[in-house]
Amino acid sequence: MCPGRPGSAEAGAMEETEKPSESWRGRYYRLEELQQHNHSQSTWILVHHRIYDVTKFLEEHPGGEEVLREQGGGDATESFEDVGHSTDARTLSESFIIGELHPDDREKVQKPTDTLITTVQSNSSSWTNWVIPAIAALIVALMYRFYSSE
Ligand code: HEM
Repeated sequence: MCPGRPGSAEAGAMEETEKPSESWRGRYYRLEELQQHNHSQSTWILVHHRIYDVTKFLEEHPGGEEVLREQGGGDATESFEDVGHSTDARTLSESFIIGELHPDDREKVQKPTDTLITTVQSNSSSWTNWVIPAIAALIVALMYRFYSSE
């Protein structure tokens, strides 16, 4: 009754074509481990909490070896995004993922926000701190003299 293709036993094959390898999922590395891989023998970078081993890609990187080495052992998320990498570059990058940064270490790599830059401003008007009381004192003195002389 069902005129389907003979021998179509491809169940499950669909998922694999979308994402070739995600065996890194659930593999966590500590920040210290990431930081140790900052040399040409082993270069790891962090992009969006995922750890990429780009050691073998250094020489092939169209943007140059140097930019990747500079980011070795650190968080390259901002630089990666600033470049505006193509979809192809992003797809390619997935093949270098080896794991994720341990959740406990994620906030350590977060850039400190600018909220703490609310410093004391009172210094800017320091001269008014004494000029106003001095003028007030002068007025009081003059009034005292004026009334006491009458
Ligand atoms: C696994 C990580 C990375 C992969 C797979 C990758 C791949 C690529 C590819 C395929 C290109 C060619 C242009 C494109 O298709 O967008 C490219 C260009 C470039 N990449 Fe990367 N990249 C990676 C990480 C980085 C990082 C971390 C930086 C910055 C520190 C960077 C900086 C650049 C620059 C400056 C260019 C040249 C852009 C241009 O000439 O317009 N890349 N990259």
